[in-house]
Amino acid sequence: MAKIVGVVTTSHVPSIGGAIARHQEQDPYWKPFFDGFIPVREWLKDVKPDVAVVIYNDHGLNFFLDKMPTFAVGAAPAYRNADEGWGIPTVPPFAGDPALSWHLIEGLVRAEFDPTTCQDMLVDHAFTLPMALLWPDQNWPVRTVPVCINTVQHPLPSAARCLKFGRALGRAIDDYDQDLRVLVVGTGGLSHQLDGKRAGHINKEFDQKFMASLLADPDWATRYSIAELVAEVGTQGIELLMWLAARGTLAGPVRALTSTYHIPISNTAGGIMLMAA
Ligand code: DHB
Ligand code: FE
Repeated sequence: MAKIVGVVTTSHVPSIGGAIARHQEQDPYWKPFFDGFIPVREWLKDVKPDVAVVIYNDHGLNFFLDKMPTFAVGAAPAYRNADEGWGIPTVPPFAGDPALSWHLIEGLVRAEFDPTTCQDMLVDHAFTLPMALLWPDQNWPVRTVPVCINTVQHPLPSAARCLKFGRALGRAIDDYDQDLRVLVVGTGGLSHQLDGKRAGHINKEFDQKFMASLLADPDWATRYSIAELVAEVGTQGIELLMWLAARGTLAGPVRALTSTYHIPISNTAGGIMLMAA
């Protein structure tokens, strides 16, 4: 049977790609964030996952405002990155795992989620940069399943819905009848707002309560509406829904194997957590 070996959640700003390209991992500005991945990489060397299921929000590369699925799951043999206009290098393509993808899609539909199924899919910085942080040589040792949740065009799925989605995804992974070691990755957040009067908004207190809640009480964030979450963490900080969905894939209590919080990376509060059952 497949087993979820752990969940990694992280922020995903495009300028991480610029810092990697310019070898700035040791610069004082970037070091606290990049260093947060050192223990995660050590752990990965031990657990050696076969597949990464990556929960993220596309920012207009694969889906645009004319067609915006609330939930989408990749079911392609491979996924390419492409230029999003940020001026950062693209990364090598990722192998897919169509059999696992279709199993997950079937499980989600049985659980009354109806994801868009993507047999052709580009992956953006929210997918590629966390992968590059986990495996800096970009010689990807895992097959991948991209899972998108819309945080770009309202209406967005509620926190409660995202947590339920993650739980359904976790059950579908658990009942896959292949001996696979599965890493779940959730990317986005934490608090940030890129536009409007509140551009630059950061809410450290809320971010840290949210991170703690993932361990102690994952339902905590579901008391907030989308509008309330946006008020707390900013228009793009709402990407923290990816952390909630990713946490939901682990049933029962979890512990944090590592956790980092650093302000800022670009306009964003940078958080990293590694959780395991
Ligand atoms: C930034 C953050 C994001 O989540 C994103 O998708 C793009 C840019 C930023 O802080 O610059
Ligand atoms: Fe983003």
